[in-house]
Amino acid sequence: MNAKEINKLTMIGAGNMAEALLQGMINNQLIQAEKIWVTNRSNEQKLQELKEKYAVNISYDQEKLLAGADVIILAMKPKDVARAMEQIRQYLTKDTLIISVLAGVPMESIETLAGQKLPVVRAMPNTSAAIGLSATGVAVNDIVTDGQKELIKTIFDTVGLTVFVKEEQLDAVTGVSGSGPAYVYYLAEAMEKGAVEIGLDPEIAKALVRQTLLGAANMLEQSGKSPEQLRKEVTSPGGTTEAGLKVLDAHQVNKAFAECIQTATSRSKEMGKDLTNQLITAK
Ligand SMILES: NC(=O)c1ccc[n+]([C@@H]2O[C@H](COP(=O)([O-])OP(=O)(O)OC[C@H]3O[C@@H](n4cnc5c(N)ncnc54)[C@H](OP(=O)(O)O)[C@@H]3O)[C@@H](O)[C@H]2O)c1
Repeated sequence: MNAKEINKLTMIGAGNMAEALLQGMINNQLIQAEKIWVTNRSNEQKLQELKEKYAVNISYDQEKLLAGADVIILAMKPKDVARAMEQIRQYLTKDTLIISVLAGVPMESIETLAGQKLPVVRAMPNTSAAIGLSATGVAVNDIVTDGQKELIKTIFDTVGLTVFVKEEQLDAVTGVSGSGPAYVYYLAEAMEKGAVEIGLDPEIAKALVRQTLLGAANMLEQSGKSPEQLRKEVTSPGGTTEAGLKVLDAHQVNKAFAECIQTATSRSKEMGKDLTNQLITAK
């Protein structure tokens, strides 16, 4: 199935991630707005705003929302999934493609809540989806077809980069790119603070740090060189960069990053287990 063959795509949940996906799909003309239906729990004003902004259909009528939907995107908070699935279960068929962006909810739980085996996709985007620059990890269950995988890639490519992984690797994706934007903000904060401490004006420090990160990120993307190669190229023996990097090495910052990713990944695993237990108990 390609995007043009979708007759109806329904988005359950209308928060930040739902809007990022709507914006991506509509601005990239992937699916016509009149084929998209959106709902939330009770915030009518938010639905109205989305209708005005993107010309999508909005409704609280389950029949209008769900009858004949070929693709359903689950975009509520993980704790709300059991209740939402109860409402949509009767409209599901064995061919309905369910795409979940819910952090920590296993595909098996969604199949169980759906009451049948159907194609399920679990995606882990990050907050940069809001500006079309997410790094998204996607896992699919064993009945998702290659055609559906292509469709899924075209959907998530509208909000950034899409990589397919095995479901068990999604915790690592969460530890690397899900939480990753915060690591970069942490670095930016620390660099700004350091710049101010040696006497730069805060506004100037902010501008220099932001542009440095932007420039380095673009070099990583455009130069075709590895981070190691780029680092070596700017580090002349006995120079300023080498002197600065020696301090980072002395503080074992590389080790701290590895541990940071490991710990975030373990936390993602733990939270997934807790959530699965809650979903089992809620049933
Ligand atoms: N934001 C991110 O960067 C990000 C990244 C990765 C994954 N995610 C995942 O994306 C999901 C949504 O996150 P978010 O940040 O977009 O959350 P959010 O802004 O809080 O939005 C949640 C939405 O779900 C709706 N909702 C709750 N229960 C519902 C129900 N039973 N039926 C229909 N709609 C229901 C809410 O409606 P009301 O407003 O009416 O209550 C709201 O529109 C989460 O599961 C999260 O794990 C988000």
